[in-house]
Amino acid sequence: MKTQTKRKTGMARLLELAFTKKALAISACVLAAASVALSFSPYIAIYYIVRELAAHFTGLDAAAGARLIQLGVFAALGAIASILVYWFALLCSHIAAFTTIYDLKLAFLRHTAMLPLGFHTASSTGKLRKTADENIEKLEGFIAHQLPDLAGSVAAPLASLVILFVFDWRLGLASLAPVIAAYAIQTLAFSGKAARSFVLQYQNALEDMNNAAVEYVRGISVVKAFGQTASSFRKLHDAIAAYGRFVKEYTNSFGIYMTLFLTVIHHVYLFLTPVIILLADGVADYGDFAAASIFYLIFSFSLATPFTKLMYTASLGNQIADGIERMDKALDAPPLAEPAQPKTVSSYTVSFTNVSFSYNGEGEAEALSGVSFTAEQGAVTALVGPSGGGKSTIAHLIPRFYEVAEGAVRIGGVDVRDMANDYLLNLVSFVFQDVFLFKQSVADNILAGNKTASREQVIAAAEAAGCGGFIAKLPDGYDTVIGASGVHLSGGERQRVVIARAILKNAPVLVLDEATAFADPENEREIQTALEKLMRNKTVIIIAHRLSTVRGADKIVVVDKGAVVEEGRHDGLVKQEGRYRLMWDDYNTALGWTFGGEKGERHV
Ligand SMILES: Nc1ncnc2c1ncn2[C@@H]1O[C@H](COP(=O)(O)OP(=O)(O)OP(=O)(O)O)[C@@H](O)[C@H]1O
Ligand SMILES: [Mg+2]
Repeated sequence: MKTQTKRKTGMARLLELAFTKKALAISACVLAAASVALSFSPYIAIYYIVRELAAHFTGLDAAAGARLIQLGVFAALGAIASILVYWFALLCSHIAAFTTIYDLKLAFLRHTAMLPLGFHTASSTGKLRKTADENIEKLEGFIAHQLPDLAGSVAAPLASLVILFVFDWRLGLASLAPVIAAYAIQTLAFSGKAARSFVLQYQNALEDMNNAAVEYVRGISVVKAFGQTASSFRKLHDAIAAYGRFVKEYTNSFGIYMTLFLTVIHHVYLFLTPVIILLADGVADYGDFAAASIFYLIFSFSLATPFTKLMYTASLGNQIADGIERMDKALDAPPLAEPAQPKTVSSYTVSFTNVSFSYNGEGEAEALSGVSFTAEQGAVTALVGPSGGGKSTIAHLIPRFYEVAEGAVRIGGVDVRDMANDYLLNLVSFVFQDVFLFKQSVADNILAGNKTASREQVIAAAEAAGCGGFIAKLPDGYDTVIGASGVHLSGGERQRVVIARAILKNAPVLVLDEATAFADPENEREIQTALEKLMRNKTVIIIAHRLSTVRGADKIVVVDKGAVVEEGRHDGLVKQEGRYRLMWDDYNTALGWTFGGEKGERHV
């Protein structure tokens, strides 16, 4: 996607998108306009029929009868042609609509997939889903229906102008008066700044309600477990109430315009009848005048349809345009910059040099400040420290899920920003705190680590990660879909699937965040053994709360409040009597705790 050019906004952008499939969209517009023009033909026939009847009111001769039948056929054919042409217009517009939103959705998904991970957490899932689904979907309706209607509504006054002034310009003018008035009312109602900001507020209110609903449904198990149904429902309730209040206000504000508009457009005869009465006095040919009067009385009604359509198009258009703006915002978020000349590496030592980072953008509270340390290739480096200290943040910066604000993260001496993104992701295997499995088969979930692996390799990796036992018990073994009804994996089992994925990937840099957090002692031993195999000759960065698991690490880095406070081997750090010593003492005390206060066995 091009991001350098400034995007159009509002209706202009909407029309630009609507004409993405130029030929189809133009055909739809031209056909729709033609259909409107054709729909006028019965009225023209009526004019001539009335004239014919007035001229022969004493009795029809054969010639006049034949002429009447001809006019009738003309009217019928005109009406049928109008419907057929409109059908073709809709055909074109629907093809244009679906191909356009297909392209757009694809572009949107491609783009969001390329955004740094930070984008996905900053703008909540509810918002992104709404952008992708609803806003793009709405465009379908606009291109398929509103666009041809818009063309028709523009063609209608032009075609009717000609017709209106051909028969009797004075009556023509009188029938046009309400249309002009209706136009004025519409412009007043929808083009104002107030209307535009209303639409914006409407979208915001809707978004808030959606987010509250998503949050509520997601957290429902917690809500139930803690018996707080009423209070947590409050937020959703308030969002719905706010939305309701707003919509009411919004609707009321348009009430007066809507009433005026509908009154004017549907009661054209209020304008026309007085003019007919006034003009009737000085008329020379009553037959002609009656024909013209009847024609205008009937025809002016047909003007209402395109204009009511135009009004809905205008209001819908504003709403859709705002949705599109939201989509554009996501499309304009810069993707991870790919280096012009990507570099590769030949060794895999990971180093942080003076790295500062904040989740909320530069200048905000920093999650990391001035972090420097080295994790040697072939060695295990452990990150320890209190919760919220910044360990996971450090781990996320290695595969460049976020961009550092200052300093640099390097692998083998090369800044991660100088590597192609795919290349970097292939260098690093990670097992993160929050395990994510796809709703796919177990085998496919493991294959995500290396798409080209064979079935045998998948099984070997799963065995190595200690998955063999529980996978054998699943209904379809390796082909069991995770998340399907009746299939449930425990936290430890899920974690081992992710470890199998990492084993299969076999990348030179391995980042393990709390890899054994879920496991019971027996599982933990299995996982440890699997990891030891995996860790051989790799650069391993491991994060764990249980200090026993990191005791044997080649290097321990103590992270607190976003900074490195100590660094060294276990024995040395314990002797230093610093931060690590305190943690170690606490850890041992905690291990000694048993119910009843007696010192018990170490269980872990
Ligand atoms: N996605 C995020 N957006 C904003 N702030 C975040 C985000 N993730 C973490 N933080 C903040 O950054 C700081 C460091 O968090 P981090 O997850 O790195 O801690 P940690 O050392 O891994 O903690 P734990 O041991 O509990 O896993 C915390 O203050 C946390 O609130
Ligand atoms: Mg963490």
